[in-house]
Amino acid sequence: MPDGPAVLIRPAELRDVRAIRAIDAQVYPTPWSEKLTIEQTTGPGRVHLVVEEDHRIIAHGGIALLDGDAHITTIAVDPTQQRRGIAGVVMRHLFAAALDNDCAAVTLEVRASNTAAIALYEQHGMESVGVRPGYYGDNGEDAVIMWTVEPLNDTLSPNRTAVDWDHDEA
Ligand SMILES: CC(C)(COP(=O)(O)OP(=O)(O)OC[C@H]1O[C@@H](n2cnc3c(N)ncnc32)[C@H](O)[C@@H]1OP(=O)(O)O)[C@@H](O)C(=O)NCCC(=O)NCCS
Repeated sequence: MPDGPAVLIRPAELRDVRAIRAIDAQVYPTPWSEKLTIEQTTGPGRVHLVVEEDHRIIAHGGIALLDGDAHITTIAVDPTQQRRGIAGVVMRHLFAAALDNDCAAVTLEVRASNTAAIALYEQHGMESVGVRPGYYGDNGEDAVIMWTVEPLNDTLSPNRTAVDWDHDEA
């Protein structure tokens, strides 16, 4: 095999569902069921990406295309691989996919206590615009609603968040 980056980001496939669920089981209090994972990662109107390193899936994230906007459905990184900039790379690819699908903006809900994810989203030009009280059924926690506040083209401008992580593109 030729030398090259051992990390790649590519669209999720049905065969990835087990690995995706293995990550989610470690990072989410109430992970998606197998059925919901299949729907969210391979269903219509979804763009879902996995990050693979040395043939092992170490992160995943996706968007749902709804009414001209892209809703981030999830983004999760294997706990042993966090703080390497992987989520940032996934975010940039999801934003690019949103642009490719003519979305005007990107939005999401995140647990109010999830300061790591909120910092990640703010780093990518998203801002908190409201709260859904008691949104999460497992512990009654509020959801913070976040949106991109600038046109996606500006958010993706090369000067703003250069990707310096060695990776291959799908
Ligand atoms: C949130 C999450 C996806 C971040 O993944 P990651 O690959 O470690 O993130 P990155 O290395 O790309 O970090 C990007 C930025 O996010 C923020 N961030 C990430 N982890 C953080 C932490 N533990 N504490 C504070 N800020 C954090 C920082 O601003 C960071 O930038 P910096 O490294 O320059 O400080 C990861 O912690 C995770 O999988 N969490 C569990 C699942 C989850 O909560 N997903 C979000 C659901 S809405």
